[in-house]
Amino acid sequence: MLSTAFLSLLLHLTLTTALPADLHLYSRQVSAPFTIIAARSGSPIHLQSINANNGSFWIGKPTLSYCIPEVPPGDCPPGTTTALLAGDGGASMDADVPGGQDVYISATNAALSFTEPHTEGGENGTTTNFSYTNSTDGGPGEFSFTGLNATGFVACPSLNGTAPWQIFAALPNLGNKDVPGGNVSACLGFDALGDTYENGTAAYQYE
Ligand SMILES: *[C@@H]1O[C@H](CO)[C@@H](O)[C@H](O)[C@H]1NC(C)=O
Ligand SMILES: *[C@@H]1O[C@H](CO)[C@@H](O)[C@H](O)[C@H]1NC(C)=O
Ligand SMILES: *[C@@H]1O[C@H](CO)[C@@H](O)[C@H](O)[C@H]1NC(C)=O
Ligand SMILES: *[C@@H]1O[C@H](CO)[C@@H](O)[C@H](O)[C@H]1NC(C)=O
Ligand SMILES: *[C@@H]1O[C@H](CO)[C@@H](O)[C@H](O)[C@H]1NC(C)=O
Ligand SMILES: *[C@@H]1O[C@H](CO)[C@@H](O)[C@H](O)[C@H]1NC(C)=O
Ligand SMILES: *[C@@H]1O[C@H](CO)[C@@H](O)[C@H](O)[C@H]1NC(C)=O
Ligand SMILES: *[C@@H]1O[C@H](CO)[C@@H](O)[C@H](O)[C@H]1NC(C)=O
Repeated sequence: MLSTAFLSLLLHLTLTTALPADLHLYSRQVSAPFTIIAARSGSPIHLQSINANNGSFWIGKPTLSYCIPEVPPGDCPPGTTTALLAGDGGASMDADVPGGQDVYISATNAALSFTEPHTEGGENGTTTNFSYTNSTDGGPGEFSFTGLNATGFVACPSLNGTAPWQIFAALPNLGNKDVPGGNVSACLGFDALGDTYENGTAAYQYE
């Protein structure tokens, strides 16, 4: 039996002419899809899931996604979970949309970001030095970014240390102007733990 993901890939190939982009996405050596949660014990972000919302990643905001009307409703992925793929130094969203959605670190504010649909190559930032390592002992995997002299990821709270928290690369020059609460001292470093997403493609496209 053909998988739903394969059927929806076929559907998109017939709906669009974006064949080279699809080939690019599907020919990369990539991990299985994975979800991420923050690990920072004794903090409000500990074991909270990290979700795609409005081009960036958040703790305390839901996954924002969309499925085009051309996909029969029963064939739309659930769209409620944020899952990524990583491989060959890059990372992308676990999405069906032709051309895919790349993950990058914004040149403007170091936010962990993803591209809008149909904007392949349009990211302003760093798309390399991402990786995902599966654990070997059945424990969690880990998503990481090692470019730009980053020391990992940080989650930065909204005004006065409240949720939602936005995810950034921990760059030496990350400043108050870059973060939602305007106070970079309130950001918390964390480990981005991964768990394999077992249910096919997680969303048609992320918004
Ligand atoms: C990681 O482990 C999961 C489940 O154990 C497996 O499905 C997946 O292919 C593995 N990923 C890599 C990159 O080895
Ligand atoms: C979405 O992000 C843009 C900039 O990236 C921002 O200007 C806008 O206010 C955000 N929208 C919401 C609803 O947060
Ligand atoms: C898995 O995906 C199917 C099809 O999109 C969906 O109906 C189901 O709710 C999903 N299950 C989980 C556990 O997310
Ligand atoms: C990319 O971001 C940098 C830093 O914010 C900015 O100076 C530059 O104009 C942006 N480039 C494009 C093509 O948007
Ligand atoms: C980042 O990636 C580039 C290109 O793949 C590589 O040359 C560089 O060594 C990497 N930097 C780090 C810090 O991993
Ligand atoms: C990383 O650090 C090295 C050594 O301090 C410096 O030469 C280099 O310019 C830095 N790279 C970036 C992207 O900040
Ligand atoms: C943040 O704290 C300041 C100073 O205590 C206060 O005036 C302001 O109302 C607070 N804002 C929120 C959103 O709680
Ligand atoms: C910024 O955050 C730090 C650490 O939570 C806190 O000690 C400091 O008072 C905050 N500064 C402002 C202006 O809120």
